[in-house]
Amino acid sequence: MNSGYYKTKESVDEYTRLAKDVSGEKLIKKLKKYLQFDSILLEIGSGPGTDWNILNGDYEVIGSDHSQEFLNRLISNNPGGRFLELDATTLKVEEKFDGIFSNKVLHHLKDKELNDSILRQFDILNTNGIICHSFWAGEGSEIFKGLYVNYHTDTTLRKHFEKYFNIIMLERYCEFEENDSILLIGKKIQLHNIKKL
Ligand SMILES: C[S@@+](CC[C@H](N)C(=O)[O-])C[C@H]1O[C@@H](n2cnc3c(N)ncnc32)[C@H](O)[C@@H]1O
Repeated sequence: MNSGYYKTKESVDEYTRLAKDVSGEKLIKKLKKYLQFDSILLEIGSGPGTDWNILNGDYEVIGSDHSQEFLNRLISNNPGGRFLELDATTLKVEEKFDGIFSNKVLHHLKDKELNDSILRQFDILNTNGIICHSFWAGEGSEIFKGLYVNYHTDTTLRKHFEKYFNIIMLERYCEFEENDSILLIGKKIQLHNIKKL
């Protein structure tokens, strides 16, 4: 469904240049209130690896992306780091994690794909596992640079996540403009609390 953006050398060069002064530092500060030091954390859609490097200071972080071009750069720029080729929708990985983080990645998923991703995240998290994801705030969807972009409101995010996660934090923040983004932090629901899957 998505174009080759993020997958070609040219687009990865362009994204890396445009995003060079952007980081999820403020989001990670919030995550640290809920996910303890040294936990095993999966990052989805690591891209240039800016947040992976911040997270790596506090967690045993495993980076991932569906783009081989980003992965090649992540591996060569971070010797000793662990990186997996993972699609956010299917998250085909055997191991379990204490936390899952993504910064501006899951908005590339259509509603059904996001639901599939949330179910997989539930499956690959340990008991009391924590999720921390950011989204672009807004309504509807569009194609931007050939990429599908799904905008979210507090209400749509609650609807997607609350069956599997207790929402600990759902707040607007400024990436480029006031309230243009939403941070969601949640804790995996205990199995006996899931009434109807
Ligand atoms: C807007 S960039 C964000 C990159 C990084 N998280 C950051 O904050 O700079 C989106 C990233 O998500 C990745 N991505 C997009 N769709 C994906 C999917 N379905 N599965 C895994 N990664 C995906 C892209 O390759 C890209 O690295």
